[in-house]
Amino acid sequence: MGNIKNIVLTGFMMAGKSVIGKELADITGFEFVDTDDMIIQTEKKQIGDIFSEKGEEYFRNVESRIALEVARKQNAVISTGGGMVLRKQNMEALGKTGVVVNLKITPEVIKKRLDKEKSTRPVIKNSDMNEVLEKLKSRECFYNKCDYSITVSDKKSPRELAEEILEILKRNGEI
Ligand code: S3P
Repeated sequence: MGNIKNIVLTGFMMAGKSVIGKELADITGFEFVDTDDMIIQTEKKQIGDIFSEKGEEYFRNVESRIALEVARKQNAVISTGGGMVLRKQNMEALGKTGVVVNLKITPEVIKKRLDKEKSTRPVIKNSDMNEVLEKLKSRECFYNKCDYSITVSDKKSPRELAEEILEILKRNGEI
């Protein structure tokens, strides 16, 4: 691989950023980092507890500090929380050292994953399908700013999706 950068994964909750990111790291030999895991480690609390005890603004401030920290890495696959894109400064920092790939989730896939996955996610914990779709819609403009985008399908395994991402990056001379 020539021109080495970090690979940054963004996308709405439940798109599979962490699982696909781990596959990408496995194939490339890059280090895998997950910004939510780093937040949990530095705060010594689960995401839900940070939200309920300290509020979203506090969480977003920690997230922004973590964005700056991980942007200093090299040869890393960086899986981000679904709200990382909301602050321009985060994406500017991550985009300087990395190529940003958005994982696009469809309403069909959301429908299949929502019940199982919403309890750990404070932003959608009490939402029904329509409210989740509204949230997705309100964020699309942020997700659409990424360098590349790939639609997540249930018919493809995380490994296959990771391989597809690498194909796109190679084709475009990113790696
Ligand atoms: C959030 C997404 C979560 C986590 C937090 C907030 C969001 O990450 O950072 O619950 O606002 O979209 P995942 O996308 O990994 O679920």
